[in-house]
This record gives sequence, C-alpha cells and structure tokens, in this order.
Amino acid sequence: MNWRAPAALLLSGLLASCGPADLSTLAPAGPLATEIANLGWLMTGLGTLVFIAVMGFLALALLRKRSPVRELTTDETEQPAVLWIGAALTVLVLAVVFAASLGVMRQLSGWEPERLTIEVTGKQWWWEVRYPQFGFTTANEIHIPVGERVQFELKSDNVIHSFWVPRLYGKMDLVPGTTTTFWLEASEPGTYQGVCAEFCGTQHAKMLFLVIAEAREDFDRWEAAQRRPAAEPVESLADRGQEVFLQADCDFCHTVRGTAASGHLGPDLTHFASRETLASAIVPNNRGHLAGWIVDPHGIKPGVLMPGTQLESGELQALLAYLESLE
Ligand code: CUA
Repeated sequence: MNWRAPAALLLSGLLASCGPADLSTLAPAGPLATEIANLGWLMTGLGTLVFIAVMGFLALALLRKRSPVRELTTDETEQPAVLWIGAALTVLVLAVVFAASLGVMRQLSGWEPERLTIEVTGKQWWWEVRYPQFGFTTANEIHIPVGERVQFELKSDNVIHSFWVPRLYGKMDLVPGTTTTFWLEASEPGTYQGVCAEFCGTQHAKMLFLVIAEAREDFDRWEAAQRRPAAEPVESLADRGQEVFLQADCDFCHTVRGTAASGHLGPDLTHFASRETLASAIVPNNRGHLAGWIVDPHGIKPGVLMPGTQLESGELQALLAYLESLE
C-alpha cells in the first residue's frame, strides 16, 4: 500500500494547526471575537454530530443482511417515515446554524458617530492609519483604548487587501473605490498581531500590523503625543541628520509634521521613534534594522517601493540619530 499520500495529508493537517497563539481565532480577546469563535464551535459541533450520524447509518446499511430480490409491496413504495425524519432533522440543523449566524451578524452591526474612529488605508505593502478626530496619521501600529468599541473605516487606493486581527475580529476587505466599516473591542490590554489576509502582491506575506490595546489614560497620553508636531532635533548629530533627510529626498515620500517634509507615498514619520516595529511590523525598530532598511530595503522586503539610499557612513549615522529623535 502506498502510505505516502495519507502520511503527507496527516502531516499537513498537523502542521496547519501549528502557529502562534497570537494568530488564533480560537483565543478570542474581545466580545465580538468571542461571539465569532462560539459560532465556529457551534458549527463544528453540529457538523461533527451530523458526520457521526451519517457514518453510523452508512455502517448499519453496509452491515445489514441483504434480503433476496423480490417485488416491492405498495406499502414499501410509499415514502417511508424515516425519509421525512431525515429531511426534518436536516432543516432543523440548518435553521439553528442560520439563526445563530444572524444573531452574531446583528451584534456586529451598529455605527455610532461619536465613537473613536480609525481610518486604515491599505498600501503596497503597509498600512496607513489615520485618526480623523485627532487629525494625525501614523502607520502599521494601531493604538486603541481597551474595553471600548472602536470603529474602523477601511480603504485602499491600489488593490484589495484584507484586515485581519484573528484574536479581535474576522477578516475585513479593503476594496478600492469603497469604504468598509466595522467596529471591534479588545477586552484585555495587550499587543495583537494583525496580518493582510488577501494576496496583494509580492510582499503580501510581509504586510503585518499591530493593534495595541491599552488603558484609557495610556491611550490619551499616546494620542496627545502623536498630535504634536515632530520634536526639533536638539543634538548636533540629529540636526545634521535632518539635513541629510531632506538632501537624500526622503521628504519626497515621507511626512514629518513641523518640517518641510510632506510626502505622502510612504509612512508618516513624525513620531517614527515611538513605533515598536519597522517595514510593516516585520522587524523591530532598532538601530541595526533601521540602518539596513535605509541602505537596502529590498534586502528585507524585495519589491518594496522604497529605493535604497546610498549614504556615507557619517551621513547614515546622522540620519539614524535624527530618525531616533522623532519620539
Ligand atoms: Cu495586503 Cu495582502
């Protein structure tokens, strides 16, 4: 017997269940994600029961002794009751699943204009994050207050992406030409991993983001800091770095509020140093990765729109000092 195919199937099944708990829909961290997970368990449970019942009847039919061929009597040609019972059970199971789905969908709807609203625009391959009520823009790291319903407006100006934070909500598409809206809530403070869940080009797999849920006062402090224009460089190296930033044409694509840099192709860098990660949450935001990213972004993320920047060592050190000063 060829054992390879079943072994491969089993192995792929086992591997498919591997993965960080942070990306598991079975570890919900918010009320809506819990509803969705419960619906999933209900469907899995009912599906399992139906499967066992069908297999049981199949086994029964196979094991039953065959009666010799003969003419059917009138009684037997009429629809036997068991058929009707089977149909009724099917309808019942589908009705339960349908009603439960409608219940969850009803909870997911609800739009209130006064709630905190966050606009997320899918880029190739990063996320622009705007807080319209506060008037600032950031990238790839979305701060929200814990225990509050937060509304999202999703857009794209290129191809279709999909916004997915498995522990907080289901997948939501970002479709060019339209706005997708929904709300979510995190019930526990923490950093939740998000991914793009729709193939959108070469770096789709490296289009990650973070949702950082924090206490209301921490969120207020963060939001107040983000609203401010960029810090003026205080030390001379950072000051020199600001010149390098403008000379190397970084300002063509990046905005640093409070300076002449006002490009919109790449992420807003006004408070770049306050972010934990780089390049759409794929590497930590530290000096080594930042230097590598500036000099050779394609080494980290092939196909990325940002070109590499050739700088002398002194210029690079100055630029790093400047970017690190953008708290
Ligand atoms: Cu964006 Cu996949």
